[in-house]
Amino acid sequence: MSDKKTQTCRILAVANQKGGVGKTTTSINLAAALAAGGARVVLVDLDPQGNASTGVSVAYDARKGGTYGLLMLEKTAHDLLQPTEVPNLSVIASDTELVGAEIELVDAPDRETRLRSALAPLQAEADYIIIDCPPVWAC
Ligand SMILES: Nc1ncnc2c1ncn2[C@@H]1O[C@H](COP(=O)(O)OP(=O)(O)OP(=O)(O)O)[C@@H](O)[C@H]1O
Ligand SMILES: [Mg+2]
Repeated sequence: MSDKKTQTCRILAVANQKGGVGKTTTSINLAAALAAGGARVVLVDLDPQGNASTGVSVAYDARKGGTYGLLMLEKTAHDLLQPTEVPNLSVIASDTELVGAEIELVDAPDRETRLRSALAPLQAEADYIIIDCPPVWAC
């Protein structure tokens, strides 16, 4: 287990404009491996396809709000954090509602920093935040 007093949270975004190249597979396995090693890990599903959520067994009915609610400031990261079957690994899930976020945020002055701000409260209690990005977005 990491030293909680000196540990700083590292935020890793798994991003590539090309689809189907292993972003989600990398995100899930990296998150699970770090958690298995004793790190406290949060996996953030930022893809409306929700494949990272599926990969850690979050039921579809339990995804509503998800990262869409986080980006729209409807819910906090703590509201949305769900445990997984893997010890030390939690997830903020996504569903198809997230498709609309890019358009809905187009005029928001804080659109480029909103995710960082929304995840900030988790940094004191996580060693790693792994973000599974969708294709196309320049995360
Ligand atoms: N190292 C690998 N070797 C072989 N197949 C792989 C490997 N990594 C991922 N795959 C397979 O490639 C396919 C795409 O993987 P994945 O869903 O992780 O890609 P992605 O980049 O997240 O896709 P998308 O852009 O749609 O989100 C899946 O069927 C996955 O099982
Ligand atoms: Mg993916």
